[in-house]
Amino acid sequence: MPPTAAQSPPPLLPKIAEADLPPVLITGGAGYIGSHAALALLDRGVRVVIIDDLSTGSRRLVPPGASFVEGRAGDQDLVLATIARHGIGAIMHFAASISVADSVAQPAAYYRNNVAETLALGEVAARSGIGALVFSSTAAVYGEPDDRPLPETAPSAPINPYGWSKAMAEQILRDIAAASAQAGGRLSIGILRYFNVAGADPRRRSGQNSHHPHHLIEIASHVATGRRDCFTIFGDDYPTPDGTGIRDYVHVSDVADAHVLMLRACLATPRQSHVFNLGYGCGHSVRDVLAALGTAAGTPVPHVTGPRRPGDPARLVADAAAAAALEWTPRFDDINLIVAHALAWEKARQAGIAAADHAQARATTAGG
Ligand SMILES: NC(=O)c1ccc[n+]([C@@H]2O[C@H](COP(=O)([O-])OP(=O)(O)OC[C@H]3O[C@@H](n4cnc5c(N)ncnc54)[C@H](O)[C@@H]3O)[C@@H](O)[C@H]2O)c1
Repeated sequence: MPPTAAQSPPPLLPKIAEADLPPVLITGGAGYIGSHAALALLDRGVRVVIIDDLSTGSRRLVPPGASFVEGRAGDQDLVLATIARHGIGAIMHFAASISVADSVAQPAAYYRNNVAETLALGEVAARSGIGALVFSSTAAVYGEPDDRPLPETAPSAPINPYGWSKAMAEQILRDIAAASAQAGGRLSIGILRYFNVAGADPRRRSGQNSHHPHHLIEIASHVATGRRDCFTIFGDDYPTPDGTGIRDYVHVSDVADAHVLMLRACLATPRQSHVFNLGYGCGHSVRDVLAALGTAAGTPVPHVTGPRRPGDPARLVADAAAAAALEWTPRFDDINLIVAHALAWEKARQAGIAAADHAQARATTAGG
């Protein structure tokens, strides 16, 4: 059958050459996804400067080769000085607070960190003549959708302050770029709405390192390595084949690659805004993930079943067709690979912490 209009691939966006990428400022680059984006750029020979306040990130996740500035993404003087000092030509903005539950308990803190800081950063980007800003958004902007894969055109209807903070930040950045264009500026905005980011750098250079883990695969990896006793499945009575919730897990290194492509597209298309979902367009249930992790670990992951959590939809899967405009070719679209990389990172992380503790204990003993 010939492809219908809905099936035909989207027109490709122009992109600058990889070799022409300017030095990039990454906010939140000491965190999970930002550190992988830093690796993706450094691996391509691009200069990277990271600004992070280390509120949830770790200095250990800053890749060797990246410059590091400790501070806030919304500190305009600091960001302006950093842009000038390093000849920054583009920004990737990951810095944010990311816990849905915390956002319900402390909405003001979430709006301050996710909206006000983004507003301040967007102003600086426009004022300083930066060519592109790529923003980390989320499927949480869609709220509690029905069962179908979600395209970017699905209504924005967040159901918690975290989702609202990201939807507001998206709008603010679009408006700032539009006003900048009117005034002769060239700022382009790239918005990437991630679904469930998971896995770790295949070379174990970075991975999840949360103070308070709340992502399924990170928590299950802790159970698989004996750091936690048991995994709780929140609800097994959803209208899905095995009764557990289905999510679109997307490998963090594929997410990082998509950022590089988005940056190249934004720099080739001044004064525009682009928005794409980042997911694989297929979902895996909680039980699928636990089974894959059990296989990778060589032993089943102990688990119990608890009640549903309010606000958890049965199924959250991206319609990821539009991102083909970036020529994004995911390398790790395989749940077995995703959990294997997450587990390998978790083991390496725990070994690193144990080695550091051991070295510190020896130094303390030697010092008397
Ligand atoms: N992890 C996911 O599955 C997921 C899904 C959708 C969207 N996102 C978005 O991706 C981005 C990165 O998330 P992550 O999972 O890497 O979280 P993370 O907590 O590991 O990273 C966030 C980083 O930002 C830093 N930070 C926070 N506020 C800051 C500020 N005002 N100034 C400077 N640094 C600040 C933190 O110290 C941390 O290093 C966030 O914007 C998040 O909303 C994540």
